[in-house]
Amino acid sequence: MSATNGQGTGVAEAKDYASYLALDQLLQLQKPQSRPIAADEILFIAVHQISELWFKLVLHELSGAIRDFAGDALLPAAKHLARCQAIFNQLSGVWQVLETLTPSDYQAFRPILGQASGSGSFQFHGIEYALGYRESGDPDLGTYPEATRRWLMGWYAGPSLYEGFVATLGRLGYPVPTSTRSTQGTPDPALEAVFETVYRAPHAHWAIYEVSEKLMDLEEAVQLWRFRHVRAVERIIGHLPGTGGTSGVTYLATTLERRFFPEIRSVRMRLFSSGGCTRGLAGEGSL
Ligand code: HEM
Repeated sequence: MSATNGQGTGVAEAKDYASYLALDQLLQLQKPQSRPIAADEILFIAVHQISELWFKLVLHELSGAIRDFAGDALLPAAKHLARCQAIFNQLSGVWQVLETLTPSDYQAFRPILGQASGSGSFQFHGIEYALGYRESGDPDLGTYPEATRRWLMGWYAGPSLYEGFVATLGRLGYPVPTSTRSTQGTPDPALEAVFETVYRAPHAHWAIYEVSEKLMDLEEAVQLWRFRHVRAVERIIGHLPGTGGTSGVTYLATTLERRFFPEIRSVRMRLFSSGGCTRGLAGEGSL
């Protein structure tokens, strides 16, 4: 990156690399709290902060995709989804670094964490809501500050990625159900029928097929991130409870089953199984 004096560009101030990126501030933000300072606490902090920066970018991309769906722009939305997948693949790489932390390295600073836990990662929960995950009851946001609660409720209440996609399908004339919010986990047969039509004749519905596949790629990338997290946690704390108060590895393993796009997944899995899907073969070109 080169410095510029901004003349004639409308840029108010001269910038250099460090000031443009606020490097002074950024590099001040890793503050170990153990005393004496445990050598590996800086690794733990940096890996979490790096992950949160990637989460921020994922949310930015998901917002872009939801906006694109609102404008029926399927292929631009697919581009955002591909980037989200690439980011989650990148995020999965952090576990390799973190797994160099041994149980005794971690024990050297674990007590100062108190109840601080990844379960307080409001950005990660925002990503889950943006993707379409919903708890069975109202979300428990009691421990967050008011501004964070409002921010998270915005993601929770707003249209998810999947709802945005399905709404686009409705506007394009596909017979989608009016609400996809209730379909969490359990496939809705009416929506399955739409995706069956698409998957039986991909060339006739290419943009939808492309987006559906990108959603599958993204779901898998999130799931692989979760899987690597569980494995890393098991290596580092075994089967001890987490600092956030859950059963630790046992709890995290249950989250591996969270799916965001149940109908696409179920249709893909059953399409060419012996029983096939429920409907007959749709001809190319038909809805
Ligand atoms: C030494 C490393 C780590 C350990 C031992 C660990 C352990 C745990 C445990 C036990 C939980 C369950 C909640 C609890 O009871 O605390 C959890 C949740 C979580 N952790 Fe980690 N973690 C580690 C690193 C990370 C990193 C680097 C991230 C990246 C941001 C992260 C993100 C999360 C998230 C988002 C959750 C909530 C998952 C959910 O509820 O679906 N963790 N972690």
